[in-house]
This record gives sequence, C-alpha cells and structure tokens, in this order.
Amino acid sequence: MRRKLVVGNWKMNGSRLANAELLAALTAAGPWSCDVAVCAPFPYLADVALSLQGGRMTWGAQDCSSHEAGAYTGEVAAAMLAEFGCRYVIVGHSERRAYHAESDQLVADKAKIALAHGLTPIVCVGETLAEREGGHTDIVVKRQMSAVIHTLGHCISQVVVAYEPVWAIGTGKTATPEQAQAVHALLRTQLHAATPKVEEMQILYGGSVKADNAASLFSQPDIDGGLIGGASLKAADFAAICRAAA
Ligand code: PGA
Repeated sequence: MRRKLVVGNWKMNGSRLANAELLAALTAAGPWSCDVAVCAPFPYLADVALSLQGGRMTWGAQDCSSHEAGAYTGEVAAAMLAEFGCRYVIVGHSERRAYHAESDQLVADKAKIALAHGLTPIVCVGETLAEREGGHTDIVVKRQMSAVIHTLGHCISQVVVAYEPVWAIGTGKTATPEQAQAVHALLRTQLHAATPKVEEMQILYGGSVKADNAASLFSQPDIDGGLIGGASLKAADFAAICRAAA
C-alpha cells in the first residue's frame, strides 16, 4: 500500500509572519496518517526548518539549479537546499516551464542533481488546454516523463511524480477524478517499463485541489495524494485536504 502524500506549493506567497501563523495552525491541526510537506520560497526555508524540525511535517523548495555550484547568479543549488533540511524540491512546475522556458531535459537534469544531494524531486508534468483539446495529452506527458526516465535510469523509482494539467492550475477547473486517473495510469504504465519499483512510486495530482474535491481525487487507484497551490495557504483548507488523504 502506497502512503498518501500531500504537498503544499506556496509559490511566491507568504511573509515571515504569515508563514509562522500558517505552520503553527497546521502543527496544531495535525498530525495526519499521510505524509505532509510544504514547499516554501527560498528565503523562508530557514524559518520553516526551525518551525517544523522534530515534527511530522517535512519541507522543501520549489526549484533548484541544474548546476552544482558556480557563476549562476540568482540560482540556488540543491546542495544548499539540503543544508536547510529540505526533503523535497519541486522541479518542472508548469510555471517554470512556461515563464522560464525550462525544457524537458533541463527538468531531468534538475531531478538528477536533487537526487544526488539526497532530496526527493517532485517532477511535474502536464498538458496545456490546447494540447488536451488537440488530443495530445498522452504524448505530451509521456514526452515530459521520458526525459526524466532516460536521465535517471533505475533511480527514477526515487522521484515523486506530479500530474498537473496546466488548464487546472489556479483556475478552479479541476480534472475530474476519471480524467486524472486516466493520466496517472498512463504514467504508471510508462514508469513500469523503467523500474520494478513502480508500485511504490507516489504519483500526485495537482490543479485546483480543494477541501471538497480532494477525497474523490485521492480515492482513485493511481492517485497517491496532491500538490496543492492556492488551498495550501489557508490552514483550515490545507488541513482538510490532509484529512481527506489520511
Ligand atoms: P493550484 O496550484 O492548487 O492553485 O491550482 C497547484 C500547483 O500549481 O501546484
């Protein structure tokens, strides 16, 4: 039985005060019988580590560099995230792919360097509305996944995958449980060819997951939890989603 995992993706939101209040409320609301993590903006990682260390919740970042170290102004190395106790790092979020022109190969390189530093990459894949309407969902997500499979080899079993249809992110339009399950099953079949440990791999759904739709999504056989944006910023909403996964 795979454990469910719920990850909050705070994106570029929060403040030291708001984060402290949010984490205090979540700590009071938990623990849950699923894995729970929050992915915070870089400057807050030290605060988050202080708030959460010794507890059940873990934390991570929202991106990392594909390079070890060096002259890459503005970038943050996976080794640095590890120093701040990060368990996870999101790579290939559609906002990074869209606004920073991240390629499938760059995302795969980021996943590789994250693993090398003991972090678990949360590899995001997902199609745009135009790609879905054009009937290209399967081809797009398989292409995105395949770059990571080829780069990581058998280590692919150590990543968490997040299927996030771009048209569902921040729009209030959630994929139906059946739509999401179909893509999750497709991804698991693709991963099956790459690793015998596929049944242990967590594949999360992301895109307008809310307290009222989480349970039906998480009840699908290949949906192992969620990557939560907007609803992760409100303690009551995020706690309700964690309860739905538990
Ligand atoms: P959303 O974002 O829950 O606000 O749709 C999810 C994500 O982008 O990870």
